[in-house]
Amino acid sequence: MIVAKDVKQLDEALHEARLKNKTIGLVPTMGALHQGHLSLMEQAKKTCDILVVSIFVNPTQFGPGEDFESYPRQLEVDSKLAAEANCDVLFCPAEEVMYPDGPTQLVHVRQGADVLCGARRPGHFDGVATVVLKLLSLVGPHKAFFGQKDAQQLAIIKQLTKEFFLPVSIIGCPTVREEDGLAKSSRNVYLTPQERAMAPTLYNALQSAAQSGERQLKKLVSMVENELSILPIGSIDYVEAYEYPSLKSVDYVEGTVILAVAYQFSKARLIDHILIEFTNRNRGEA
Ligand code: PAF
Repeated sequence: MIVAKDVKQLDEALHEARLKNKTIGLVPTMGALHQGHLSLMEQAKKTCDILVVSIFVNPTQFGPGEDFESYPRQLEVDSKLAAEANCDVLFCPAEEVMYPDGPTQLVHVRQGADVLCGARRPGHFDGVATVVLKLLSLVGPHKAFFGQKDAQQLAIIKQLTKEFFLPVSIIGCPTVREEDGLAKSSRNVYLTPQERAMAPTLYNALQSAAQSGERQLKKLVSMVENELSILPIGSIDYVEAYEYPSLKSVDYVEGTVILAVAYQFSKARLIDHILIEFTNRNRGEA
């Protein structure tokens, strides 16, 4: 595995692959690699000749008072994990490489960023879109792999690449879960043992609402809120539902809807979601 720390080293590492027209797959991460990231790498490795993994804790997607300073940084451990996942090039630039003049230009996301996590983290998706655009420009991958767990991020990135005519396929990969249903996340390490035991309730609540057959979004949201309100620790940040991937407000499940939750434990804020589909075929059967 080649470790590239700046643009020159990255270009050198990819020179031969580009010359030989090899397919390049990019897995962008902020490090603290876990099973979820490894499954993205596995997917990329299956469908591309060269796997590039980037590790960069991107300052522009953190708001004031968020966990930018304390975000887990463990480059040595992560390098080992990436090498074991058969990563060909590990790109781990410093802030000066990604923002040589500081963040003087940012992409502004005008649709889909004002709901769910975007509404609570103003500017977050501008930072995400900016850094993803930079990474795609630098690496020039044929495919880039993102977790479906961050469904709002995935929808925004797909729209970004469409609107900027970027020659890359954005591949959404399924959420990796613990045996009890908790979605894997770098932030799970912040859960106390008691919180960890309660955390699967998030996905259980989403699943029971989705399986209820209810089509009114307000009622689906109430079902999840009711189930979470019995948790003795933490508080609901939001339970919301929108059409997906447009993230527009709708009243009824028609096509695909995202039912999403964010829950604040003492230190960890966890997010999860479920996609609910209602097709003409379902309607015929109902
Ligand atoms: O999902 C993440 O880890 C980050 O938002 C990403 C896509 C690597 C951009 O910094």
